[in-house]
Amino acid sequence: MRKVVPRVTIAIDGPAGSGKSTVARCVAEKLGLLYLDSGAMYRAVTLLAIENSVEENISELIELVKQCNIEFTENGKRIFLDSVDVSEEIRTPDVNKLVADIAKTPEIRHEIVKHQQRIGAEGNIIAEGRDLTTIVFPNADYKFYLDASIQERAKRRFADLQEQNVKTTIEIVESEINARDEKDTSREHSPLQVAKDAIRVDTTGKTVEDVIDIIVTHIKEK
Ligand code: C5P
Repeated sequence: MRKVVPRVTIAIDGPAGSGKSTVARCVAEKLGLLYLDSGAMYRAVTLLAIENSVEENISELIELVKQCNIEFTENGKRIFLDSVDVSEEIRTPDVNKLVADIAKTPEIRHEIVKHQQRIGAEGNIIAEGRDLTTIVFPNADYKFYLDASIQERAKRRFADLQEQNVKTTIEIVESEINARDEKDTSREHSPLQVAKDAIRVDTTGKTVEDVIDIIVTHIKEK
C-alpha cells in the first residue's frame, strides 16, 4: 500500500552512478511522491544545443532554453522537449560527453533551477541531481548525499549502457565518469558538494533495496 508523507521535500545529490536515480525513483513509488530527475533536464538542454548546432554559441543557447518547454510524464520516467519525447536521446554518448560543459553555464542553470523550484513548489517531491540539497531546495526536509567507489559506479553505468546496446568498455566508462565528476565538482557555479546537513550514504557493495531502506528509515525516524 502507498504511504503518503504530507508536503515533504527530499533532496538527493551525488556523482554519476552513485545510484541516486534508481533509489529516488523507488522511494518516490514507495512513499507516493513526485520524482524529479534534474539531470534529465540538463541533458534535454544539451540535446537542444546539439540539435540546433549551438554547442559553442552559449548566448544563442540561453535564448533557446528560455523559450523551450521541458515536461515530464509518468512521474519523471519520460521527458519531453517541446512536446517531443526525448527520453532515449538524452542518454546517448554524445550527450554524456557534452552535458557537464553545458550545465556549468550560470544563465542556463538559472532557468532550469526556476523550473525545478516551480515543479517542487507544492512539496511531496523527491528530487535528485548535483545541487538539489544546496541550491534548488536548500530547505528540504531531508537531504542525502549518495556516493560509491569509482569502480562500482563505472560498473553500474557500464551495465546500463550494455542494456542500451551501446558499444563501450568499462575503462572508457570509468574515464568518462571521472571527467564528468571533475567538471561537476570544480565548476564555479553550483558545484557538486556535500551539503552540511546532508546524510552521507556510501552505496558501494549495497543493493538498491539496502539504500532505499537506509533512506526510508531516516525519514521515519525524524
Ligand atoms: O544525473 P545525470 O548523470 O543524468 O546528470 C547529467 C549531468 O547534468 C551531470 O553530469 C551534471 O553536469 C548535470 N547536472 C547538474 N546539476 C544537476 C543535475 C545534473 O549540473 N542538478
